[in-house]
Parts: sequence; C-alpha cells; structure tokens
Amino acid sequence: MILPILTYPNSILKKKAETVKDPLDSEIKRLVLDMLETLEKNSGIGLAAPQVGQSLRLCVIKIKNETHILINPKFRYKSWRKKIEEEGCFSLPGEYKPVKRHLKVTVEALNRKGEKITLKAEGLLSRALQHEIDHLDGILIIDKK
Ligand code: CO
Repeated sequence: MILPILTYPNSILKKKAETVKDPLDSEIKRLVLDMLETLEKNSGIGLAAPQVGQSLRLCVIKIKNETHILINPKFRYKSWRKKIEEEGCFSLPGEYKPVKRHLKVTVEALNRKGEKITLKAEGLLSRALQHEIDHLDGILIIDKK
C-alpha cells in the first residue's frame, strides 16, 4: 500500500522515534513492505517511518538496485572528515539545502529477519543513512547548520 508522506511542520517529524520492540511483528513487516512500495512510487532514495506517521526507529534506503532495511539503526563509526552536498527531503517538498555530513559511516541495525547487520558506507549511501537516521531523531535538513 502506498502511504501518504507527512510534510513539515507535522509534529511527528519532530519527535524522537521509539525503538522497534519486535522486528518480526506482522505490523512491522507490513510497514516495511508499504514503505518500500511508497519509496518506489516516489522514486526516492530513502524513507523513514516517522515520515509515514509511525514514530518508530525504522528506515529504508534504495540506491540503484540495492535495498537496505534498517531497524533500530545505530552509528558505530563516523569519519572525522565531512562533506557538504545538497539534499532534498520528501517531507520538505521543493526545498534543497547544502548539508554537511560525515564522509564515511558504519551503521549497525537489524534487518527484516531481525538479524544484526553492519553497513560500512561512503558516498551517497553514507549521506542517505545520516539523513534517514536524523529523521528518527526528529531532525530535518532545515535543522542542520
Ligand atoms: Co528526509
């Protein structure tokens, strides 16, 4: 099911999202499928659960043909080096802004099977991970310096 995407200033976007207690719960599985479908439909790179009205620590990222489903993601490493690049966000239609991000990050999360995964990223995936995990903390690109 394609879900409606909340836009700023919806208050859910500003909340710190809750930890997903059971990644194998059928409602979570449904939500993941719906988020993937919604991301596909909007031809985007990433989508976080709060953007579809669910204040949960869950996001999906699709770059080229690689799909990442991240439940309760946490940073394990952030490079000292940073880079500024322009970003957009579904929740801020038409708004593009240069955002400073860590060049490389390592993220630990659970996948849709509830298994622990570690993702070492640079380039666009690194940027997308930081953007989506910011959403889980109620941070939007307009909040970034
Ligand atoms: Co966004």
